[in-house]
Amino acid sequence: MLAAILAAVAGLMFGLDIGVISGALGFIAKEFQASDTAQEWIVSSMMFGAALGALVAGRLSYGLGRKKALVLSAALFMLGAICCVLAHSVSLLIVARAILGLAIGIASFVAPLYISEVADEQHRGSLISVYQLMITIGILLAFISDALFAYAGAWRWMLGIVAVPGAIFLVGSLFLPDSPRWLMLRGRHDDALETLSTLRATREEAESEIRDIQASLREKQRGFSLFLENPNFRRSVMLGIGLQIVQQLTGINIVMYYAPRIFEVAGFGQDGQMWGTAIVGLVNMLATFIAIGFVDRWGRRPMLVAGFAIMAVGMGALAVLLSFGQDSSTMMHYLAVAVLLLFITGFAFSAGPLIWVLCAEVQPLQGRDFGIACSTFTNWIANMAVGATFLTLLGTLGASHTFWLYAALNAVFILVTLAFVPETRGVTLESLERKLNLGTRLRDIGR
Ligand code: BGC
Repeated sequence: MLAAILAAVAGLMFGLDIGVISGALGFIAKEFQASDTAQEWIVSSMMFGAALGALVAGRLSYGLGRKKALVLSAALFMLGAICCVLAHSVSLLIVARAILGLAIGIASFVAPLYISEVADEQHRGSLISVYQLMITIGILLAFISDALFAYAGAWRWMLGIVAVPGAIFLVGSLFLPDSPRWLMLRGRHDDALETLSTLRATREEAESEIRDIQASLREKQRGFSLFLENPNFRRSVMLGIGLQIVQQLTGINIVMYYAPRIFEVAGFGQDGQMWGTAIVGLVNMLATFIAIGFVDRWGRRPMLVAGFAIMAVGMGALAVLLSFGQDSSTMMHYLAVAVLLLFITGFAFSAGPLIWVLCAEVQPLQGRDFGIACSTFTNWIANMAVGATFLTLLGTLGASHTFWLYAALNAVFILVTLAFVPETRGVTLESLERKLNLGTRLRDIGR
């Protein structure tokens, strides 16, 4: 339960941070007369901080321990939120958003790691999808709170209100037990057994798990050196990196960050922009349940292919609609909303959760921390690249061509999935690892 609650709150913060800026951006731009480039930096400095956070998270979570790393991230999160409220220039706002990002980068690495270390086997898998669900709930809450504060134009409130869940997370994480696996890593055997006994039903269960941990620790965690010397590990690391690039190049976050702007280009007034965005967040959350319900029945590959196809169609249709320009009819406006929702649905049941699931599954035990750190870092860098170029693309290519570009990328990702992504449904992680080490083609390591 503790693990689940923690997953919930860390994911929620991730989502709040992603979602909150879309509604605030227009007001910020007006108050500071920020150029497109300045706006892109306000959006993407958060991702820059997050990438940095993901990079240092591995060391922090080893040195300080998972729990203290989470406490630190919660404290940084609150600090960042408060700095956003007080920021009186674009550059201060950029710094404040980078601090927020640092917090999220640490949390997005440590929280899932911590959960996988304290959760028992039967619940570990579903918690990853629940983590994504909480990200989408965070985004939705941010969109709704943005829509409410928009009536007063209160962008400082929009950015500041996230300090409240931050405070809850801070207090909650102070009460967390240390991760038993980390305690073992640091040679604190008795503490580990003590802690695990409080997390498991019986003392025997805890003792047998401690023996498993001991056995798995004999396999020393290695990172960069393994990457250099083992070509098969290089393949799984590159797959994780590639998957996260693909996830971001679907264009999901241009919708998350700039949805009101897209609705504006499609001809909506301010109210319509804000509530349209909230509906986008709602659909994003609801469609995640499709993944939770069906991923272990339908498998990863078919769901990804279907998702990319739907996203390609959605982006293409949006491109066509936008080519009619702003003074198009009301029907066009609603069509624009419909195709945007189609796109979001395609993402939320496929690439949203499944990329995180796959990234955790494909790494061999020995290089797990390193592999996941690489892919998490890539997620934020790619996220930043997309956020930092969107307005420029709109300005140079025009709205319609920009969306054609993303439609084409999604079509290409269908081929990428067919060529490289393994089907991991119902396959044990040990078996995946064995095939990987035999040099089997990536797409076949699940067979
Ligand atoms: C992605 C985020 C995205 C979110 C949307 C996550 O899986 O990593 O970049 O904003 O999904 O729901």
